[in-house]
Amino acid sequence: MNRDQFIQRIIPQSIIESAAYQVVDSTGMIKLDAMENPYSWPDSLRSSLANRLAACELNRYPDPSARAVRTSIKSWMKIPNALSVLFGNGSDEIIALLISSLIGSGRSVCAPDPSFVMFKVLAKQFRVPFHALPLDEEMDLDTGQWIEGLNSNDAGIVFVPQPNNPTGNLFTDDRLRAVVESTDALVVIDEAYTAFTDADYIDWAEKYPNVLIMRTLSKIGLAGSRFGLLIGAPEWISEYDKLRLPYNINTLSQAAVVFALEHSEILEEQSAAIRSERQRLTLELEHRNVKVWPSEANFILVEMPKGRAFEIFEGLKSVNILVKCLDGVHPALADTLRITVGIPCESDAMLMVLDQLLDTGR
Ligand SMILES: Cc1ncc(COP(=O)(O)O)c(C=O)c1O
Repeated sequence: MNRDQFIQRIIPQSIIESAAYQVVDSTGMIKLDAMENPYSWPDSLRSSLANRLAACELNRYPDPSARAVRTSIKSWMKIPNALSVLFGNGSDEIIALLISSLIGSGRSVCAPDPSFVMFKVLAKQFRVPFHALPLDEEMDLDTGQWIEGLNSNDAGIVFVPQPNNPTGNLFTDDRLRAVVESTDALVVIDEAYTAFTDADYIDWAEKYPNVLIMRTLSKIGLAGSRFGLLIGAPEWISEYDKLRLPYNINTLSQAAVVFALEHSEILEEQSAAIRSERQRLTLELEHRNVKVWPSEANFILVEMPKGRAFEIFEGLKSVNILVKCLDGVHPALADTLRITVGIPCESDAMLMVLDQLLDTGR
């Protein structure tokens, strides 16, 4: 057999037909596409961090349970002592780990429709059935269909981003509670955007036997460290810990996260600045007669004039401003762009080009 024949024999057809996750090269661009924190750290802190990293013993394996990070993160996030925490190489890895536990069980993964793509992508990779459950016209949970859908699809795990990506809204508390109380599936409330909302569901992990909370440090300024968390009752966490690769959080990330949390006031100030810039940007966009969906995250979903989203995305890109075009991704997202909240001068540059493209007369 030649190499191609070996590949055909070994790699499942579903993988051969799929594409690797694509990330646009954004070198030199104003980057408003990936929900990153746009602020960097002062030079003095960067050199202290360099010293801290220089002291890391890279010849040794990392601390497999990342104890130093555990202590600082539990206290910074005010995680109750009764709950345990599992760390992942980004919450993407935690999503993979959770879904992998369903392989061969016949039980499915469910998530809102539309929502964060990795729930579906990873379910597909692990060949675990995936079902997208509908949102209503306000992008809220359609409780009746959810309860029915979780039951009829034999859901094992349902991911609920709160707030949701890419819509940016929080689901109504009562609806989420009704879903949690109606199902025998595990409900993973994904609080990736917790820094930008007052909503906090950690106590649900204590209150409900079938709820876990997932968080990440990516959105508050540590996307490069790839650090996610699963928070929940020790009985749940110890089971998932059996699936975790022993050294999944590398030594440099552990040290960088501990260092960052020693200076958590900077992360908090930056998140507060993003929240206030979100408010300003929302108003500015509303003045331009485009529909702006209410956001509790660090991005805003904006509906462009009919049929023009892609052209506006391309127009912004041609002057090195990168946003995310969601037109064509899902019927509810027709004509939309998702714009990450940047620093004020980045918003201003984007708005100026938008004015030209929309011909607002400004
Ligand atoms: C809802 C949601 N969950 C999880 C993630 C993944 O975050 P991480 O960078 O920790 O893998 C994202 C990233 O955009 C997200 O939007």
